[in-house]
Amino acid sequence: MKVCVFGASGYLGSAVYQLAKNDPEMDVSGTYLEDPGELTDLHKLDVNEPESFSGFYKTMQPDVVVWSVMSGSYEDELINEGLFHLLTHLTPETKLVYLSTDFVFTDGNGPYTEADPTGKLPDEHVWSTYANAKVKAERLITKELTNYAILRAGPIYGKNSLGKRDERTEEMIAALERGKTAAYRDDLIRTFVHVEDLADAVKTFISNDRKGIYHTGPKQKASYYTFMYKMAEQLGYNTGLLEKASETELPDEEVPKNTALTTEKIAKETNLHFRTMN
Ligand SMILES: NC(=O)c1ccc[n+]([C@@H]2O[C@H](COP(=O)([O-])OP(=O)(O)OC[C@H]3O[C@@H](n4cnc5c(N)ncnc54)[C@H](OP(=O)(O)O)[C@@H]3O)[C@@H](O)[C@H]2O)c1
Repeated sequence: MKVCVFGASGYLGSAVYQLAKNDPEMDVSGTYLEDPGELTDLHKLDVNEPESFSGFYKTMQPDVVVWSVMSGSYEDELINEGLFHLLTHLTPETKLVYLSTDFVFTDGNGPYTEADPTGKLPDEHVWSTYANAKVKAERLITKELTNYAILRAGPIYGKNSLGKRDERTEEMIAALERGKTAAYRDDLIRTFVHVEDLADAVKTFISNDRKGIYHTGPKQKASYYTFMYKMAEQLGYNTGLLEKASETELPDEEVPKNTALTTEKIAKETNLHFRTMN
């Protein structure tokens, strides 16, 4: 099976790439944009460049495509250019495994099921570019394709197989090591998912026949404060330096406080295990 991981130099993508590489059934290729990191066999590719994208895709002819690309403030370009190029190349036989986010939920209050409606943030919102691009991508995929799995995740954490951690934990470690405090919101509830468990889920969906939208992660939800407190404890840091952050920060105004994900569907339909932070 020929698998192509777009964004294979990233935090999650590199974990997926490594896992797939270790499977003799999979012939894996991967792309990076600026920094391949430790993975020396990745292909440099800007997915927004139509000609190089087309050339790369036609050479690879993958059976499964994993979209683990992210570009923050340029996320809309990734969808309007990159994802659009991909959609013009996919055949009905090629499966797309697309990584999405709990940011697609802007109405009501979680935990959300796969059937709950997604919504866009007002343009002026600080997270609107990323969140709205993800909503647009999901709508495009569900309208144009049948052979896809959209895997939604809350905040991803943990050390991946290449030793890379999530930025939130890196920043906390840096603060605590300097004896500084770190503050997290106790009113924002999420489903935190370990990077290696999510990579395992992606690999499972590369090989299985399941299609549609799936929420990933454990059953348990937590606030950022509770989660990071446990993380600090687990890493052996002074939890006395952890504080509860102000609950009146502007960026959260239009985002539901609880964007946790109901993960019953994936638990019922697969044998995947998602660890919890104890
Ligand atoms: N991190 C989270 O907490 C989280 C939560 C929910 C969902 N997700 C989703 O999970 C996926 C992976 O996230 P991540 O945290 O692993 O992201 P990441 O570490 O920032 O990796 C992003 C990847 O995209 C590549 N990239 C960016 N712009 C590109 C372009 N124009 N052409 C080709 N490649 C490009 C980067 O390449 P270079 O590094 O080489 O430049 C890198 O490989 C994303 O789809 C994201 O939306 C992430």
